[in-house]
Amino acid sequence: MLAMSLSFPLHANPSPKTDTEIAKVFADPGFGEYFTDHMAVATWKKGKGWFGDQLAPYGPFQLDPAAAVLHYGQEIFEGLKAYRHFDNSIWLFRPDENARRLNASAARLMLPELPVEDFVQAVRRLVEVDARWVPLSEGEKSLYLRPFMFANETFLGVRAAETVTFCVIASPVAPYFAGGVRPVDIWVTDKYSRAGQGGTGAAKCGGNYASSLIAQYEGYDHGCPQVLFLEASGKDRVEELGGMNVMLVTGDGKLLTPALTGTILDGITRKSVLQVAADLGLEPVETRLGAEDIFDKVASGEVVEAFSCGTAAVISPIGSFKSQAGQFKLAQPAGQHTLAIRERLVDIQYGRHEDVHHWMTRVC
Ligand code: PLP
Ligand code: COI
Repeated sequence: MLAMSLSFPLHANPSPKTDTEIAKVFADPGFGEYFTDHMAVATWKKGKGWFGDQLAPYGPFQLDPAAAVLHYGQEIFEGLKAYRHFDNSIWLFRPDENARRLNASAARLMLPELPVEDFVQAVRRLVEVDARWVPLSEGEKSLYLRPFMFANETFLGVRAAETVTFCVIASPVAPYFAGGVRPVDIWVTDKYSRAGQGGTGAAKCGGNYASSLIAQYEGYDHGCPQVLFLEASGKDRVEELGGMNVMLVTGDGKLLTPALTGTILDGITRKSVLQVAADLGLEPVETRLGAEDIFDKVASGEVVEAFSCGTAAVISPIGSFKSQAGQFKLAQPAGQHTLAIRERLVDIQYGRHEDVHHWMTRVC
């Protein structure tokens, strides 16, 4: 079957928000609270492929109570941002990486592949039509894009769904952690696991987040807004946070992050940070990080800075790691390397630094 590219024709929202209403949202967008006038949607059926692509008015789905996603959680998603530059042009950061990762997640969850160009077209069309909703860079605001795909077949049998919905929604946001570069404390859970070998840890599927919530609330009980997971079997290897990858900076100029072992997400910010760190003269090292690296080496001062990174969180300094064993404070929270890497990455995204790696794609 020859695949036709999707074009997402516009079915315009008859009552879009006014500029005044949008300005009010921009004043305090929070994260994921407000949504734009439109959404991109397409349907897939086994034997037919993708069809019915359109930009529709933003609004609720009609979902049969027996829709498979509601029962077995066959769902995946992505997250990327559109940035407004000083000249009012609007840009996406590495959207083809999100498209490829969506397909990797789709393969793991037995959902259909969506061609990279169709994914990028859906995102571009939505941003183009709802361009009024992309805030100015001040306060590191942006338009967060949430592509997702789910089993939309009315059937209670446990098998891969034969009807699937793809959708992209958009939400003007500030960074995920309010307060910008204020260091946060991270709870290291030795009670709960996020993923195991052969599981879905490397896929961006809703179930991973559902199962991480209990650990996040364990973290809240200890005054920490995010949780760091250790490898499931031995609890002696560092993996990632509930919604971000983790990075450590050593006093002798190395940037350490857990290697991709099949149990953590291949973060697009993670791979960009590894490149930016090298550009700034640090030595990026993807390796096995033991729990001792975040406890003993923080305590001894060998590891001086730490941060989490992800699309929603940007780069967020870590003040301390807390666990049942105690609290381990970083010598230099929000230290010079964390801030330099953060500034370079954000400057590329907002068009204030040359896009040397050709990461940015112009929408309009
Ligand atoms: N790890 C997890 C579990 C995440 O949810 C995210 C966010 O998407 C990341 C890492 C960072 O990935 P990215 O930088 O592609 O947003
Ligand atoms: C993202 O960074 O895009 C995510 O999906 C993380 C989530 C915690 C909002």
